[in-house]
Amino acid sequence: MTASASISELLLAWYGRHARALPWRSAPGCPPPDPYRVWLSEVMLQQTTVSAVKPYFERFLTRWGDVEALAAAPEEEVMAAWAGLGYYIRARNLIACARTVAAMGGFPASEAELRALPGLGAYTAAAIAAIAFEQRAVVVDANVERVVARLFALAEPLPGVRKAIRACADRITPQHRAGDFAQAMMDLGATVCTVRDPRCLACPLAQHCLGRRSGDPARLPVKPPRKARPERQGRAYWIERGGSVWLVRRPGKGMLGGMRALPDDGWSARADGAGPPPLRGPWRPAGSVQHIFTHCALTLSVLHYEGADHAALDAQAGEWWPLVRLDEAGLPTAFAKAAARAMTGEDG
Ligand code: ADE
Repeated sequence: MTASASISELLLAWYGRHARALPWRSAPGCPPPDPYRVWLSEVMLQQTTVSAVKPYFERFLTRWGDVEALAAAPEEEVMAAWAGLGYYIRARNLIACARTVAAMGGFPASEAELRALPGLGAYTAAAIAAIAFEQRAVVVDANVERVVARLFALAEPLPGVRKAIRACADRITPQHRAGDFAQAMMDLGATVCTVRDPRCLACPLAQHCLGRRSGDPARLPVKPPRKARPERQGRAYWIERGGSVWLVRRPGKGMLGGMRALPDDGWSARADGAGPPPLRGPWRPAGSVQHIFTHCALTLSVLHYEGADHAALDAQAGEWWPLVRLDEAGLPTAFAKAAARAMTGEDG
């Protein structure tokens, strides 16, 4: 048996004993799950942890049980249901993709056709082809990347090393059960070959692992020097009238595009923020909140409107939203924090 065949067999045998039971999966060796479940989970899992995704996945499935139901849903409802999961561009792409797939009569089965769907990248296409359609596809996410870099002791830094990682992942991906193999690699990365403290004694691939033989597998893959995250300042406006607060919908393009939000000073579009408030003063500072995005760290000052000129808002695009139902507004986390700060004086 070649070393590659031995690696995939050892890993699949380990997966048979240690696979995590996750709501979007079928058990090792069983018929594959419905592509809708696989697609939805893979989109949600991009840059997001399994524990954060689980409740969202369950809620989406309960509310929109198949791709046709999701395709028919109003965009605002899907965006609101996504609130808190982050990277909101994924929700917009999700809707576009659902509508295309529903119009096609179902998900295509090949990696190339999947890749052509709106917003569906190379990773997701490979994952769906392998997991839902039992195609041989090479699936490389961050967990797989780490396992492979260690297994083959690939010491060139990221991102340059990705090409070599992919070639090595291709070498060990089996012809059959590529979906189970991919998920086994993910589970190995998540539970054994972890970022800081790999548990090599529990690893089914330890005998093949060149990283382990090198004595310091945890240093792999070698990360590029970290760039400082730019800091941004912005203002969010809390305008309350008779038990309701004034909410707007953010423009479709740009950060948090299409999400419901508090009015703000345009911090996301301009480095200096400083757009005019929606009403002329008086404003009372209500503290500030911090939120970390991938590309910036935001400090959002919250300003409370203390005046009486609410009528001026009625001609603007926005809505009075009842405070008792604020948790249903689908505010993205940065604005949910600002709202909590305005209402209680505490971070949400
Ligand atoms: N991360 C991304 N896709 C995953 C999957 N199918 N199982 C577990 N973790 C994942």
